Amino acid sequence: MVFIACAMSLACAALDDVEGVITNPGEDASTQINISWAAHVPGTHVEYTAKGSETWHSVKPTYHRLCTTYDSIRSKSPRNEDIKEGVMFIKCAAELKGLTPATEYSYRVLDATGKEMVPMHTFKTAPVAGEWSCCVIGDFHVYPPAPGRLKAAMAMVETVEKYDPGIDWVLHLGDVCAWGGSWSFWVDLYKQPYFSKYMWTGVNGNHDNMTRGYDQTTNKFFRDANYVPRNGYEGQEGVCYHFRYGDVMFVMLNNEDMRKDEEFSAAAEWVRKVVTEARQSSNPPRYVVVCEHYQWFYATNGKTSQYGRWRPIFDELDVDLALSGNNHIYARTNCLYDGKETDGSKGTVYLQIPSSDNERGQGMDETMVANQDLIKYRFTEGD
Ligand SMILES: [Fe+2]
Repeated sequence: MVFIACAMSLACAALDDVEGVITNPGEDASTQINISWAAHVPGTHVEYTAKGSETWHSVKPTYHRLCTTYDSIRSKSPRNEDIKEGVMFIKCAAELKGLTPATEYSYRVLDATGKEMVPMHTFKTAPVAGEWSCCVIGDFHVYPPAPGRLKAAMAMVETVEKYDPGIDWVLHLGDVCAWGGSWSFWVDLYKQPYFSKYMWTGVNGNHDNMTRGYDQTTNKFFRDANYVPRNGYEGQEGVCYHFRYGDVMFVMLNNEDMRKDEEFSAAAEWVRKVVTEARQSSNPPRYVVVCEHYQWFYATNGKTSQYGRWRPIFDELDVDLALSGNNHIYARTNCLYDGKETDGSKGTVYLQIPSSDNERGQGMDETMVANQDLIKYRFTEGD
């Protein structure tokens, strides 16, 4: 076995034996949570316990595979030096099942000897139904030579937390890394205390999908930095996925692989299939939310972007909320159906979030030239 998988970075950053720990939802976040990490030593596993319980349950990884996705990648060190990251590791995932809904859990990742490898992590399972609270954020473009971006993004989570101290989880809408191919960027991000505190999940952004200079573009960077439910369509397993959070169904898309018409059709077919199946199941969702990275509207001037492509399908499937990012300008509609605003009893609310790195913002024209009747509100702090 290749447990010797070690770092050969030219700038040779010291690697922790376990790093890149992330808590993602399982297919039903009320009872299933996926914990995953990168191991450089054998025998790593998870122990978890419910809040208030004395019993720790030990779980071996249900998935472990040598990951070479981030090997030999041109990158940058935090000191802005040109480096090549040569990192391989064992990607491990423990899929926890049979958890109690609406319950706080703690877990630790241990090595074969029982030594704790990373600080304690916590998460909360979803309720079966009813209210919950989620921090929605994105477009951090984490880039170690510009550490202010990550600081600003985490300060934004803090701001949201102050607004609602009862946050249950965090949803991101892509571009969390400047270059998803740079493993050190993910490690930097996942070391932040908010990643130990909450379950996170999100979508693949164009930046997460690339290396420096576009040497390589692939959805594997997102896939192997997470372990989301592997219920996507062919080629998108672990990237496009759906999960239940309480009585809400989330459907997560990958824009990077739906540029061509046939790719878009494959994505649309999959959305149609999974939403229809869920609605016809014995436990249909009360709401359906679809997330992708690319904006619904170019909010600089209001012109139509992905809204144009998805509108007929969201109308057909009665999608309640469509979330996106990328444009770095907040924009929101009221309920739209058949290209018009409704009284709210039918249709889809389209919402795109601003960036949160305090660096890559975008200004907007004072007057919208398009879709004035649809876009209800825009916000940006400018460049
Ligand atoms: Fe972005």
